[in-house]
Amino acid sequence: MSYEPIWLKKATLPGKPGFSSYIPGEGIEGSIERELSVLHDLREDFVWSVMVTEALPEEGYEILVGDGKVDILGGSKAGVLYGIFDAMRQLILTDTVVPVSERPACPLRMLNHWDNADGSIERGYSGNSFFFRNRELIVDDRTLFYARLCASVGINATVINNVNVHEDATKLITDEYLPKLREMAECLASYGVKLYICINFAASMQLGGCKVSDPLDPDVIAYWEKAVAHVYEAVPMLGGFLVKADSEGRPGPHTYGRTQADGANMLARALAPYGGKLIWRCFVYNCSQDWRDTTLDRACAAYNYFHPLDGQFDDNVILQVKNGPVDFQVREPVSPLFCGMTQTNLMLEVQAAQEYTGQQKHVCFLVPMWKDVLRFHTYAYSENDRVRDIICGAHRKSENCGIAAVANTGDDENWTGSDFAAANWYGFGRLAWNPSLSAEQIAEEWAGLTFGDDKEVSAVIVKVLLASYSIYERYTVPLGIGWMCQPNNHYGPNVEGYEYDRWGTYHRASHSAIGVDRSSRGTGYAVQYTEPLAKLYDDPSTTPTELLLFFHRLPYNYLLPNGSTLIQHIYDTHFEAVDELRSLIASVVTVQGLIPEKEYTRIMERFAMQLASAKEWRDRINTYFCRISGIGDAKRRKIYAVSEEDITYPSDADPEYTS
Ligand code: GCU
Repeated sequence: MSYEPIWLKKATLPGKPGFSSYIPGEGIEGSIERELSVLHDLREDFVWSVMVTEALPEEGYEILVGDGKVDILGGSKAGVLYGIFDAMRQLILTDTVVPVSERPACPLRMLNHWDNADGSIERGYSGNSFFFRNRELIVDDRTLFYARLCASVGINATVINNVNVHEDATKLITDEYLPKLREMAECLASYGVKLYICINFAASMQLGGCKVSDPLDPDVIAYWEKAVAHVYEAVPMLGGFLVKADSEGRPGPHTYGRTQADGANMLARALAPYGGKLIWRCFVYNCSQDWRDTTLDRACAAYNYFHPLDGQFDDNVILQVKNGPVDFQVREPVSPLFCGMTQTNLMLEVQAAQEYTGQQKHVCFLVPMWKDVLRFHTYAYSENDRVRDIICGAHRKSENCGIAAVANTGDDENWTGSDFAAANWYGFGRLAWNPSLSAEQIAEEWAGLTFGDDKEVSAVIVKVLLASYSIYERYTVPLGIGWMCQPNNHYGPNVEGYEYDRWGTYHRASHSAIGVDRSSRGTGYAVQYTEPLAKLYDDPSTTPTELLLFFHRLPYNYLLPNGSTLIQHIYDTHFEAVDELRSLIASVVTVQGLIPEKEYTRIMERFAMQLASAKEWRDRINTYFCRISGIGDAKRRKIYAVSEEDITYPSDADPEYTS
């Protein structure tokens, strides 16, 4: 399928080499040459030169400008490429180039694709895989353009297959795939992107003829040493492995009574001689919970498993931690693992794929959410204690840390289904490079690169992006409660969809109260945090409002700091957010004609789906809580209560919450 150059639209000139056909073996020198020619075409009157110098950090660069001459110095060839893309961005956005000196904040800036060998994508919302088709790996000009898009925002690593490694992908480490995998690795490396793959923890049994996959079993250890040696012989530039073990049915060390550290270290030791990294996910929890059991709390699981192992992981192991303790809900607290793993290499995992945030039918710019996570103070250190400091390696000598995003791409022409969703891919790369960039700056850059320099268009696009996350949050799930979506596909509302299921995802709404008590009086999740966070989260009056129902079980007439009752807040946010969405859509209509028709039509089609879905969320959530609580909306807006006699309106019912 054909593809669009998205934010590189103005940096891809017709008739230029490179993007109509993939030329194997060109290497990073070929890319530098190609991108220099793009720069030259953008500003022919400048004299452009590039140089690698050891005086700069490896991936860093400097742009020197003087007298119509621009010198781009890089600490490596990849650094030079990043410098070229910086200059390109500046030229497109401002028509000139100013001197800069840059180095990336996070060592590993990675995408995780959940692509399956058959070409499908788990939680994919933009078509099929462009890495796999019918159990074959594809390396073509789109692969190269993908790498180019990644490099243009500083992404330096990618995992091309799903963390759930099914039968076919298990064979990625065998001769069936290795020659093509090398081609893939070379193609990506020509833009400084290192290839990683997900492996199946049980490959020793499924491919190696071992009876077990026990990480302490000598045959298993020998199997992996041999398998890894073979892989690196074929693909010496491979970055390493990403592993989902003991999670949602995937095999892992727990089967043999071994710890997560036993499992990770065994693989890490096989990779170490080749400089390979082992990225081990912390998404480990009991997914066969009995909903009747109110003592077990999924939010506690990762910390309970991993915290006791802090300090036991080898140096080439990186633990990859989802931003929140549960699973990419629109609002979760930051995972307490960032507070409690001071002796371990950590990576943050966020989800650009909009599984729970509107599946790329809804506009939901996630950069503001990611920024909240990155600037979160963990209180685990006396200084430099934010998540961003930790994942940028402020406290560890090793470079084995960083950030990964579950990718939102597919083979749709515009790569991400929704045109707006590309801003999440773009924004992820820019934030990983520099977490202190503001959401506004990122949105402005992306809007300018994608839609051109019309100020009116840019202003509208930026407004839409910046408002979108808060709007999405307010018309979906209130106050951090999460999980009121349709089971399995996770699109649209279903208030009790997960209430009596096995996944540990409950809100336990009754006629008088809602929420799981995760304080010290309840499941104890709140006290997994360092002080003063533990104390703060333990008390509803000091818990941030947006997380109130994540931590506490509260009555509907609980008074929020803004003077509203909890139930009135639910009504207000749901009505307001749908109205705000309507007015955002109206503002995009005002720039019709200034946005290319194809993009405009696509955007409007998705907005229609978003608005319909937002109304459904609003009405189902409001109706559910009105019916179950018997408390009506003080402003008497339309809610579908069955019988008016069952409803008391707040003007006659004073807030009663006292403790
Ligand atoms: C979520 C998602 C799954 C995915 C899992 C993971 O639960 O729904 O599709 O496999 O996360 O992160 O491993």
